[in-house]
Amino acid sequence: MIPFLDIKAVNKPYDIKFQEKLKQFLEKGWYILGDEVEAFEEEFAACTGSEYCIGVGNGLDAITLTFNAYIEMGNLEKGDEIIVPANTYIASILGILHAGLVPVLVEPNLETYNIDPKGIEEKITAKTKGILVVHLYGQLADMEAIMEIGYKYNLLIVEDAAQAHGLLFKGSHTRTFSFYPGKNLGALGDAGAVVTNDEKLATTIKSLSNYGSEQKYYNDYIGYNSRLDELQAAFLRVKLPFLAAENERRSAIANRYLSEIKNDKILLPVCSADHVFHLFVIRTENREALQKYLADNGIQTLIHYPVAPHKQKAMEAFHHLSLPITEKIHNEVLSLPMSPVLEEAKIDFIIEKLNAWTS
Ligand SMILES: Cc1ncc(COP(=O)(O)O)c(C=O)c1O
Repeated sequence: MIPFLDIKAVNKPYDIKFQEKLKQFLEKGWYILGDEVEAFEEEFAACTGSEYCIGVGNGLDAITLTFNAYIEMGNLEKGDEIIVPANTYIASILGILHAGLVPVLVEPNLETYNIDPKGIEEKITAKTKGILVVHLYGQLADMEAIMEIGYKYNLLIVEDAAQAHGLLFKGSHTRTFSFYPGKNLGALGDAGAVVTNDEKLATTIKSLSNYGSEQKYYNDYIGYNSRLDELQAAFLRVKLPFLAAENERRSAIANRYLSEIKNDKILLPVCSADHVFHLFVIRTENREALQKYLADNGIQTLIHYPVAPHKQKAMEAFHHLSLPITEKIHNEVLSLPMSPVLEEAKIDFIIEKLNAWTS
Protein backbone atom coordinates (compact mmCIF):
# COMPACT_ATOMS: atom_id res chain seq x y z
CA MET A 1 0.00 0.00 0.00
CA ILE A 2 1.36 3.42 -0.96
CA PRO A 3 -0.38 6.03 1.18
CA PHE A 4 -1.12 9.46 -0.22
CA LEU A 5 0.88 10.90 2.64
CA ASP A 6 2.66 8.94 5.39
CA ILE A 7 2.71 11.75 7.91
CA LYS A 8 4.21 9.61 10.65
CA ALA A 9 7.17 8.89 8.39
CA VAL A 10 7.50 12.59 7.52
CA ASN A 11 7.87 13.41 11.22
CA LYS A 12 9.99 10.36 12.13
CA PRO A 13 13.40 12.01 11.49
CA TYR A 14 12.53 14.70 14.05
CA ASP A 15 11.41 12.28 16.77
CA ILE A 16 14.36 12.70 19.12
CA LYS A 17 14.33 16.48 18.84
CA PHE A 18 10.57 16.55 19.44
CA GLN A 19 11.06 14.48 22.62
CA GLU A 20 13.76 16.89 23.80
CA LYS A 21 11.46 19.83 23.15
CA LEU A 22 8.64 18.15 25.07
CA LYS A 23 10.96 17.46 28.00
CA GLN A 24 12.13 21.09 28.08
CA PHE A 25 8.54 22.27 27.81
CA LEU A 26 7.49 20.17 30.80
CA GLU A 27 10.49 21.27 32.83
CA LYS A 28 9.88 24.94 32.02
CA GLY A 29 6.17 24.85 32.88
CA TRP A 30 5.38 27.89 30.69
CA TYR A 31 2.49 26.87 28.49
CA ILE A 32 1.14 29.92 26.63
CA LEU A 33 3.00 32.58 24.58
CA GLY A 34 6.49 31.75 25.79
CA ASP A 35 10.03 31.73 24.39
CA GLU A 36 9.25 29.15 21.72
CA VAL A 37 6.46 31.21 20.14
CA GLU A 38 8.62 34.30 20.22
CA ALA A 39 11.61 32.51 18.68
CA PHE A 40 9.47 30.84 16.01
CA GLU A 41 7.91 34.17 15.08
CA GLU A 42 11.38 35.64 14.60
CA GLU A 43 12.63 32.66 12.61
CA PHE A 44 9.57 32.40 10.39
CA ALA A 45 9.59 36.14 9.70
CA ALA A 46 13.21 35.81 8.59
CA CYS A 47 12.44 32.73 6.49
CA THR A 48 9.67 34.55 4.62
CA GLY A 49 11.65 37.78 4.31
CA SER A 50 9.10 39.63 6.44
CA GLU A 51 9.56 42.08 9.25
CA TYR A 52 6.86 40.66 11.50
CA CYS A 53 5.31 37.27 12.16
CA ILE A 54 2.34 36.67 14.43
CA GLY A 55 1.67 33.10 15.44
CA VAL A 56 -2.03 32.24 15.59
CA GLY A 57 -4.17 29.17 16.19
CA ASN A 58 -4.57 27.97 12.59
CA GLY A 59 -4.65 29.05 8.95
CA LEU A 60 -8.34 29.97 8.92
CA ASP A 61 -7.88 32.27 11.91
CA ALA A 62 -4.82 33.79 10.22
CA ILE A 63 -7.11 34.97 7.38
CA THR A 64 -10.00 36.02 9.65
CA LEU A 65 -7.74 37.95 12.02
CA THR A 66 -5.95 39.73 9.18
CA PHE A 67 -9.19 41.02 7.69
CA ASN A 68 -10.57 41.89 11.12
CA ALA A 69 -7.39 43.82 11.87
CA TYR A 70 -7.83 45.82 8.65
CA ILE A 71 -11.38 46.61 9.81
CA GLU A 72 -10.16 47.72 13.25
CA MET A 73 -7.50 49.87 11.56
CA GLY A 74 -10.13 51.55 9.37
CA ASN A 75 -8.74 50.19 6.08
CA LEU A 76 -11.84 48.05 5.52
CA GLU A 77 -15.48 48.26 6.53
CA LYS A 78 -17.88 45.41 7.10
CA GLY A 79 -19.72 44.74 3.83
CA ASP A 80 -16.73 45.57 1.65
CA GLU A 81 -16.08 43.16 -1.21
CA ILE A 82 -12.96 41.01 -1.35
CA ILE A 83 -12.01 39.20 -4.57
CA VAL A 84 -11.06 35.56 -3.94
CA PRO A 85 -10.44 32.57 -6.21
CA ALA A 86 -13.48 30.38 -6.74
CA ASN A 87 -11.04 27.47 -6.99
CA THR A 88 -9.61 27.29 -3.49
CA TYR A 89 -10.01 25.46 -0.24
CA ILE A 90 -13.15 26.81 1.41
CA ALA A 91 -11.19 28.26 4.36
CA SER A 92 -10.03 31.18 2.18
CA ILE A 93 -13.67 32.17 1.70
CA LEU A 94 -14.65 31.44 5.30
CA GLY A 95 -11.98 33.83 6.59
CA ILE A 96 -13.49 36.67 4.53
CA LEU A 97 -17.03 35.83 5.70
CA HIS A 98 -16.02 35.60 9.36
CA ALA A 99 -14.67 39.16 9.16
CA GLY A 100 -18.08 40.40 7.90
CA LEU A 101 -16.78 41.01 4.37
CA VAL A 102 -18.26 39.84 1.08
CA PRO A 103 -16.31 37.29 -0.98
CA VAL A 104 -16.50 37.79 -4.74
CA LEU A 105 -15.49 34.60 -6.51
CA VAL A 106 -13.29 34.70 -9.62
CA GLU A 107 -12.56 31.81 -11.96
CA PRO A 108 -9.08 30.24 -12.21
CA ASN A 109 -6.78 29.83 -15.17
CA LEU A 110 -7.32 26.26 -16.36
CA GLU A 111 -3.57 25.66 -16.71
CA THR A 112 -2.29 26.94 -13.38
CA TYR A 113 -5.49 26.46 -11.32
CA ASN A 114 -4.76 29.83 -9.69
CA ILE A 115 -6.99 32.92 -9.95
CA ASP A 116 -7.07 34.35 -13.47
CA PRO A 117 -6.13 38.05 -13.29
CA LYS A 118 -8.21 38.63 -16.43
CA GLY A 119 -11.31 37.72 -14.46
CA ILE A 120 -10.55 40.05 -11.57
CA GLU A 121 -11.06 43.42 -13.23
CA GLU A 122 -14.55 42.66 -14.49
CA LYS A 123 -15.66 41.84 -10.92
CA ILE A 124 -14.44 45.11 -9.43
CA THR A 125 -17.18 47.43 -8.15
CA ALA A 126 -17.17 50.55 -5.97
CA LYS A 127 -17.33 48.21 -2.96
CA THR A 128 -14.27 46.14 -3.89
CA LYS A 129 -11.53 46.85 -1.37
CA GLY A 130 -9.20 43.87 -1.49
CA ILE A 131 -7.98 40.65 -3.09
CA LEU A 132 -7.22 37.46 -1.21
CA VAL A 133 -4.77 35.63 -3.48
CA VAL A 134 -4.24 31.88 -2.95
CA HIS A 135 -1.12 30.05 -4.11
CA LEU A 136 -2.95 26.81 -4.73
CA TYR A 137 -1.11 23.48 -4.43
CA GLY A 138 2.15 25.45 -3.82
CA GLN A 139 2.34 27.42 -7.05
CA LEU A 140 2.72 31.20 -7.03
CA ALA A 141 -0.31 33.00 -8.46
CA ASP A 142 0.28 35.60 -11.17
CA MET A 143 1.36 38.25 -8.65
CA GLU A 144 2.69 40.70 -11.20
CA ALA A 145 -0.67 41.09 -12.88
CA ILE A 146 -2.53 40.98 -9.57
CA MET A 147 -0.34 43.67 -7.98
CA GLU A 148 -0.90 45.87 -11.01
CA ILE A 149 -4.67 45.60 -10.62
CA GLY A 150 -4.23 46.23 -6.88
CA TYR A 151 -2.35 49.50 -7.52
CA LYS A 152 -4.80 50.60 -10.21
CA TYR A 153 -7.86 50.21 -7.97
CA ASN A 154 -6.15 50.85 -4.62
CA LEU A 155 -6.95 47.41 -3.23
CA LEU A 156 -5.50 45.65 -0.19
CA ILE A 157 -3.76 42.45 -1.15
CA VAL A 158 -3.47 39.51 1.20
CA GLU A 159 -1.99 36.16 0.20
CA ASP A 160 -3.30 32.87 1.57
CA ALA A 161 -0.03 30.94 1.57
CA ALA A 162 -1.37 27.94 3.51
CA GLN A 163 -0.12 25.61 0.75
CA ALA A 164 3.03 27.51 -0.14
CA HIS A 165 5.65 27.38 2.63
CA GLY A 166 9.08 28.04 1.22
CA LEU A 167 7.80 29.70 -1.95
CA LEU A 168 9.82 32.66 -3.17
CA PHE A 169 7.14 35.27 -2.76
CA LYS A 170 6.81 38.34 -4.91
CA GLY A 171 4.24 41.06 -4.56
CA SER A 172 2.33 41.91 -1.45
CA HIS A 173 3.78 41.77 2.04
CA THR A 174 0.97 40.21 4.00
CA ARG A 175 0.62 36.46 3.94
CA THR A 176 -1.29 33.95 6.00
CA PHE A 177 -0.05 30.44 6.71
CA SER A 178 -1.45 27.20 8.04
CA PHE A 179 0.77 24.66 9.76
CA TYR A 180 -1.88 21.93 9.64
CA PRO A 181 0.06 18.65 9.99
CA GLY A 182 -0.07 17.73 6.28
CA LYS A 183 1.29 21.05 5.04
CA ASN A 184 4.86 21.51 3.74
CA LEU A 185 5.70 22.88 7.18
CA GLY A 186 3.32 20.95 9.39
CA ALA A 187 2.93 21.09 13.16
CA LEU A 188 1.76 18.15 15.28
CA GLY A 189 -1.63 19.79 15.67
CA ASP A 190 -3.31 23.01 14.60
CA ALA A 191 -1.17 26.10 14.11
CA GLY A 192 -0.95 29.14 11.85
CA ALA A 193 0.72 32.51 11.34
CA VAL A 194 0.53 35.84 9.56
CA VAL A 195 3.64 37.56 8.20
CA THR A 196 3.72 41.21 7.20
CA ASN A 197 5.91 44.30 6.94
CA ASP A 198 3.14 46.51 8.30
CA GLU A 199 3.85 47.16 11.98
CA LYS A 200 0.37 48.46 12.78
CA LEU A 201 -1.22 45.41 11.16
CA ALA A 202 1.12 43.12 13.11
CA THR A 203 0.33 44.67 16.50
CA THR A 204 -3.41 44.71 15.74
CA ILE A 205 -3.44 41.03 14.75
CA LYS A 206 -1.36 40.14 17.81
CA SER A 207 -3.81 41.96 20.04
CA LEU A 208 -6.90 40.52 18.32
CA SER A 209 -5.51 37.01 18.70
CA ASN A 210 -5.19 37.56 22.44
CA TYR A 211 -8.67 38.84 23.49
CA GLY A 212 -7.98 42.21 21.86
CA SER A 213 -5.43 42.92 24.55
CA GLU A 214 -1.88 44.18 24.29
CA GLN A 215 -1.49 44.80 27.97
CA LYS A 216 -2.87 42.08 30.22
CA TYR A 217 -6.41 42.84 31.46
CA TYR A 218 -6.73 45.92 29.24
CA ASN A 219 -8.77 45.29 26.09
CA ASP A 220 -8.70 47.52 23.04
CA TYR A 221 -10.74 45.36 20.66
CA ILE A 222 -13.45 42.71 20.68
CA GLY A 223 -10.79 40.06 20.35
CA TYR A 224 -10.43 36.32 19.99
CA ASN A 225 -8.35 33.64 21.59
CA SER A 226 -6.28 32.29 18.71
CA ARG A 227 -2.64 32.03 19.71
CA LEU A 228 0.08 29.82 18.36
CA ASP A 229 0.47 27.04 20.92
CA GLU A 230 3.82 27.07 22.72
CA LEU A 231 4.44 23.35 22.19
CA GLN A 232 3.52 23.54 18.48
CA ALA A 233 5.92 26.48 18.10
CA ALA A 234 8.66 24.34 19.66
CA PHE A 235 7.94 21.49 17.22
CA LEU A 236 7.78 23.87 14.26
CA ARG A 237 11.20 25.27 15.20
CA VAL A 238 12.62 21.76 14.94
CA LYS A 239 11.27 21.34 11.40
CA LEU A 240 11.73 24.83 9.96
CA PRO A 241 15.48 24.48 9.17
CA PHE A 242 14.67 21.46 6.99
CA LEU A 243 11.81 23.02 5.02
CA ALA A 244 13.99 23.94 2.04
CA ALA A 245 15.48 20.44 1.79
CA GLU A 246 12.03 18.85 2.09
CA ASN A 247 10.71 21.14 -0.64
CA GLU A 248 13.64 20.15 -2.86
CA ARG A 249 12.71 16.52 -2.40
CA ARG A 250 9.09 17.32 -3.30
CA SER A 251 10.34 19.09 -6.40
CA ALA A 252 12.50 16.12 -7.43
CA ILE A 253 9.50 13.80 -7.12
CA ALA A 254 7.35 16.22 -9.12
CA ASN A 255 10.00 16.39 -11.83
CA ARG A 256 9.92 12.62 -12.14
CA TYR A 257 6.13 12.66 -12.39
CA LEU A 258 6.30 15.45 -14.98
CA SER A 259 8.88 13.83 -17.21
CA GLU A 260 7.92 10.17 -16.86
CA ILE A 261 4.11 10.05 -16.77
CA LYS A 262 3.07 9.52 -20.36
CA ASN A 263 -0.59 8.76 -20.87
CA ASP A 264 -2.89 10.57 -23.31
CA LYS A 265 -5.77 10.33 -20.85
CA ILE A 266 -3.88 12.09 -18.08
CA LEU A 267 -3.24 15.83 -18.04
CA LEU A 268 -0.14 16.89 -16.14
CA PRO A 269 0.00 20.22 -14.29
CA VAL A 270 1.69 23.25 -15.84
CA CYS A 271 4.29 24.14 -13.23
CA SER A 272 6.57 27.11 -12.71
CA ALA A 273 10.15 26.48 -11.63
CA ASP A 274 9.54 27.75 -8.11
CA HIS A 275 6.51 25.53 -7.36
CA VAL A 276 6.84 24.01 -3.86
CA PHE A 277 4.57 21.05 -4.62
CA HIS A 278 2.39 20.87 -1.56
CA LEU A 279 0.29 18.77 -3.92
CA PHE A 280 0.91 17.17 -7.30
CA VAL A 281 -2.42 17.28 -9.08
CA ILE A 282 -3.25 15.61 -12.37
CA ARG A 283 -6.50 15.79 -14.30
CA THR A 284 -8.52 13.22 -16.18
CA GLU A 285 -12.07 13.11 -17.51
CA ASN A 286 -12.49 9.66 -16.06
CA ARG A 287 -11.31 10.39 -12.53
CA GLU A 288 -13.44 7.88 -10.68
CA ALA A 289 -12.10 5.04 -12.82
CA LEU A 290 -8.50 6.19 -12.42
CA GLN A 291 -8.81 6.56 -8.67
CA LYS A 292 -10.33 3.08 -8.40
CA TYR A 293 -7.68 1.56 -10.67
CA LEU A 294 -4.91 3.12 -8.57
CA ALA A 295 -6.55 2.01 -5.34
CA ASP A 296 -6.85 -1.55 -6.72
CA ASN A 297 -3.09 -1.35 -7.30
CA GLY A 298 -2.45 -0.20 -3.74
CA ILE A 299 -1.94 3.48 -4.57
CA GLN A 300 -3.91 5.95 -2.47
CA THR A 301 -4.90 9.25 -4.09
CA LEU A 302 -7.01 12.15 -2.80
CA ILE A 303 -9.16 14.81 -4.41
CA HIS A 304 -8.40 18.47 -3.69
CA TYR A 305 -11.26 19.22 -3.70
CA PRO A 306 -14.33 17.15 -4.61
CA VAL A 307 -16.95 19.92 -4.14
CA ALA A 308 -16.33 23.54 -5.17
CA PRO A 309 -16.90 26.10 -2.39
CA HIS A 310 -19.80 27.74 -4.26
CA LYS A 311 -21.56 24.36 -4.42
CA GLN A 312 -21.27 23.62 -0.71
CA LYS A 313 -24.41 23.39 1.42
CA ALA A 314 -22.99 26.11 3.68
CA MET A 315 -22.60 28.53 0.77
CA GLU A 316 -26.19 28.90 -0.34
CA ALA A 317 -25.67 32.53 -1.33
CA PHE A 318 -23.30 31.32 -4.08
CA HIS A 319 -25.38 28.43 -5.44
CA HIS A 320 -26.64 30.53 -8.35
CA LEU A 321 -23.11 31.26 -9.63
CA SER A 322 -21.95 29.75 -12.87
CA LEU A 323 -18.24 28.92 -12.56
CA PRO A 324 -17.61 26.30 -15.26
CA ILE A 325 -13.80 26.28 -15.03
CA THR A 326 -13.86 25.82 -11.27
CA GLU A 327 -16.43 23.05 -11.64
CA LYS A 328 -14.46 21.30 -14.38
CA ILE A 329 -11.36 21.33 -12.18
CA HIS A 330 -13.27 19.97 -9.21
CA ASN A 331 -14.66 17.17 -11.38
CA GLU A 332 -11.34 16.14 -12.88
CA VAL A 333 -8.49 16.63 -10.39
CA LEU A 334 -6.66 13.84 -8.61
CA SER A 335 -3.72 14.31 -6.23
CA LEU A 336 -0.92 11.75 -6.50
CA PRO A 337 1.15 10.62 -3.50
CA MET A 338 3.55 13.43 -2.62
CA SER A 339 5.76 13.81 0.42
CA PRO A 340 9.45 14.29 1.16
CA VAL A 341 9.71 10.66 2.31
CA LEU A 342 8.19 8.99 -0.76
CA GLU A 343 10.76 6.41 -1.92
CA GLU A 344 12.06 6.05 -5.50
CA ALA A 345 10.74 2.48 -5.86
CA LYS A 346 7.27 3.67 -4.98
CA ILE A 347 7.50 6.54 -7.45
CA ASP A 348 8.60 4.00 -10.11
CA PHE A 349 5.55 1.90 -9.32
CA ILE A 350 3.11 4.84 -9.39
CA ILE A 351 4.46 6.02 -12.76
CA GLU A 352 4.38 2.49 -14.19
CA LYS A 353 0.74 2.04 -13.15
CA LEU A 354 -0.30 5.46 -14.48
CA ASN A 355 1.36 4.76 -17.83
CA ALA A 356 -0.37 1.39 -18.08
CA TRP A 357 -3.85 2.81 -17.42
CA THR A 358 -6.18 2.44 -20.37
CA SER A 359 -9.31 3.90 -18.63
C1 LIG B 1 -5.61 27.37 0.94
C2 LIG B 1 -5.92 27.14 2.40
N1 LIG B 1 -6.32 28.17 3.15
C3 LIG B 1 -6.58 28.02 4.45
C4 LIG B 1 -6.46 26.80 5.07
C5 LIG B 1 -6.86 26.70 6.50
O1 LIG B 1 -5.83 26.32 7.36
P1 LIG B 1 -6.15 25.57 8.73
O2 LIG B 1 -6.55 24.18 8.42
O3 LIG B 1 -4.88 25.64 9.50
O4 LIG B 1 -7.26 26.36 9.40
C6 LIG B 1 -6.02 25.70 4.34
C7 LIG B 1 -5.80 24.37 4.89
O5 LIG B 1 -6.37 23.75 5.63
C8 LIG B 1 -5.75 25.87 2.96
O6 LIG B 1 -5.35 24.85 2.20
